[in-house]
Amino acid sequence: MCGIIGYVGDEAAAPIVYQGLENLEYRGYDSAGIALVNGARATGGSRATGGSRTTGDVAPDVAADGGLTVAKRSGEVSNLTVPDAPDATCGIGHTRWSTHGPPTDANAHPHVDCAESIAVVHNGIIENHETLKAELGDHEFTSQTDTEVVPHLLETELSETAGEDAPDLRTAVERVVDRLEGSYAVCAIHADENRIVAARDGSPLVVGHGEDAAFLASDVTAFLEHTREVTYLEDGDVVDLSADGDVEVFAPSDDAAESLPRRPVDRSVETVEWEADAAEKAGYEHYMRKEIHEQPTALRQTLSGRVDVDRARVDLDVSLPEAFLERVEEVQIVACGTSYYAGRYAARLIESFADVRTTVEIASEYEFGAGRDPDRTLTIAVTQSGETADTLGAIRRADSAGARTLAVTNTLGSSVTRAVDDAVFIRAGPEIGVAATKTFASQVTTLALLAVALGRERGTLSAARARSVLEDLRGLPGAVQQALDAEADVVTAAERYCDEDAFFFLGRDLGVPVALEGALKLKEIAYDHAEGFPAGELKHGPLALVTDRTPVLAVLTEGGAPAETMTNVTEAQTRGADAIGCVSADREFGTLDVAFEVPDVGLLEPLVANVYFQLFAYHVANEKGRAIDKPRNLAKSVTVE
Ligand code: M6R
Repeated sequence: MCGIIGYVGDEAAAPIVYQGLENLEYRGYDSAGIALVNGARATGGSRATGGSRTTGDVAPDVAADGGLTVAKRSGEVSNLTVPDAPDATCGIGHTRWSTHGPPTDANAHPHVDCAESIAVVHNGIIENHETLKAELGDHEFTSQTDTEVVPHLLETELSETAGEDAPDLRTAVERVVDRLEGSYAVCAIHADENRIVAARDGSPLVVGHGEDAAFLASDVTAFLEHTREVTYLEDGDVVDLSADGDVEVFAPSDDAAESLPRRPVDRSVETVEWEADAAEKAGYEHYMRKEIHEQPTALRQTLSGRVDVDRARVDLDVSLPEAFLERVEEVQIVACGTSYYAGRYAARLIESFADVRTTVEIASEYEFGAGRDPDRTLTIAVTQSGETADTLGAIRRADSAGARTLAVTNTLGSSVTRAVDDAVFIRAGPEIGVAATKTFASQVTTLALLAVALGRERGTLSAARARSVLEDLRGLPGAVQQALDAEADVVTAAERYCDEDAFFFLGRDLGVPVALEGALKLKEIAYDHAEGFPAGELKHGPLALVTDRTPVLAVLTEGGAPAETMTNVTEAQTRGADAIGCVSADREFGTLDVAFEVPDVGLLEPLVANVYFQLFAYHVANEKGRAIDKPRNLAKSVTVE
């Protein structure tokens, strides 16, 4: 939710920041903006005020006052004119997903102070912005955002004391962020220095270490083409990036006796394994289609080195204490959206393999209720990004209640990994399309491995059954590939049905979460009315919606009670609906209007049906000319509650 990028070094900052914005656009595309320290005036030395640069050579939406060049525009990054500023080697940028204030030019970030000497970008929500604004008195505000208080607060801090004792930008940022309530990643520049100071609390921020240059972003994909050496910042950190690429991190001091609120800390430098081109489109028109097609590879990565079929064992790089596994009475899964449906799929497997009660809750609805025993509870946060505010809130509530916590995530260094006792990575590689695709398959696969591991360690899953499941898991990438190879048939179906009134997705057992996920994909990217139901529920109400303009799409595979589901499909067909079914290879339902074949992978077959549903949603949306990678009103990473 909102993307931040910063660069300081010895190259022109504008194209680097702009490219970073393009890479981050999946985080929000309501508006975009860039602020640069004008090269001619920047000294890297002491703070001064005043001075400006004329705007004659820059685009019409660019103001260049007070030594900063600021360009911002509502709409997608492509609406933004890149400032022509070859001398400017320090800059920040922002892509916005609106919370406070509609997506207008004025509300686009960066925001500046009255003197236009300070520019700030922000991700998160400043809950006490009204109070702070009132305290600021006669400062001139030009937007409806919560963010705009920050540059004005910085202005006040920096102008409070003149001369030798004047606070520098870092001290000012420290003082200001300590007054903010809510969540933030904020990033500030001043007209007189090639330097970026930033802080995080509750919203992600990662530093990239270049050669004589430093980067700062909400996500590593922003600068992967420049460096893979990164430092993940912690909540409470303030970071100071200087013109020669030096990076200093300051963390809140635990020692109340210390006079300074923060002290310098060493944060480790890690190497990101993702290749830069993994976050590019590689010839596909949309990231979503590329990511759908990456599923066999992603699944192989998810499984790599973790499966020992002969010994019927799983190695997930996390070992829960034996005593805990013996006493655990409940597994709770908390997640949102697609991750929630992955959790629903996995819950059935965990209950079946590990014989432990497993609940799945929408993270924003989760409470650790009375009567539950935290000492016997494992709470699992499933989150691709590791930054979803609702999921972080839920896992923190479980942690405070005393439950053991585990994250299943795609994102190394993400906030969730720091909020839990243990983390397991799904290894799907970067997912840029707002619609989650390959990560669903990798989440379920990782959780299926966990279910096998728990079952084996608790002695509830026989070696023979475990081997059979592990064999099916090993067969999954090939089975998914077979579905992908049948894409032309899905295109034909999408062309045939794309103009229908509504779509109903049906499934039973493991087919239910896939039906729900199939409907979510179609809603999200095609903007069509689509709903998923447990097939047996159709006759208890939703059947009234069925007409000859409402095709039903059904999971008719192993793990999804295919014969019973087909009975419900027939009920819909009797009312005039066409039926599209994903059917196990060894079955045939001759009355289906369209059938897609699912190879034999046991309880994982509904996952292959999901690939057909992803392709169907994609091609329906494509027929309608939708903004598939950037559906309206949505963003990839939802970091507000
Ligand atoms: O990053 P997370 O897995 O925590 O995200 C959760 C949901 O926001 C996400 O799955 C969302 O529903 C997707 N856009 C669906 O395609």
